[in-house]
Amino acid sequence: MITKIVEKAINEQIRKEEHSSRIYLSMASWAQVNGFQGAAEWLYAQTDEERMHELKLIHYLNDRGGNAHLADLEKPATKFKSLMDVFQQVLKHEEYISASINEVYAVSIKQNDYSTGNFLQWYITEQTEEESTVRTILDQIRLAGEEKGGLFHMDKELAAQAAKKRTSQLAAATTNAGI
Ligand code: FEO
Repeated sequence: MITKIVEKAINEQIRKEEHSSRIYLSMASWAQVNGFQGAAEWLYAQTDEERMHELKLIHYLNDRGGNAHLADLEKPATKFKSLMDVFQQVLKHEEYISASINEVYAVSIKQNDYSTGNFLQWYITEQTEEESTVRTILDQIRLAGEEKGGLFHMDKELAAQAAKKRTSQLAAATTNAGI
């Protein structure tokens, strides 16, 4: 059984993961109509990844005797200044999510809920990886911006990364490890 305090914290995280998914979906749509096909594919794949994060929390909470709830979500931004702007916002958002996961972890430990703490370790590792990936993308966009055709190559690189992301999502779904 999970305490009401931990249940509330996880439900709040469920809302944030679902919101992340929508934020990236909106960014993906912007990228698609602005000629960044690779970035769009990357962001569409990220949208699905965030939904998987959300689903994993829903399953966990319900399995522990809690009750997962969905909440209202704010409308995500639809306009961006550039590809750099998009990924700067992705990084800012991921840093916010990392802090939020750490907060849920702290709440669970304070409640002596070590099972939840253990479960959240996966998210802590995932956040470190996500932040690092986006920082690298931002560095590459910065470098690409200095040479002609750089952004075109960067977009191709993002398409390759998106294909890898899709392969691991498929593997996770096949082994049922993702949820
Ligand atoms: Fe589920 Fe990217 O945070």
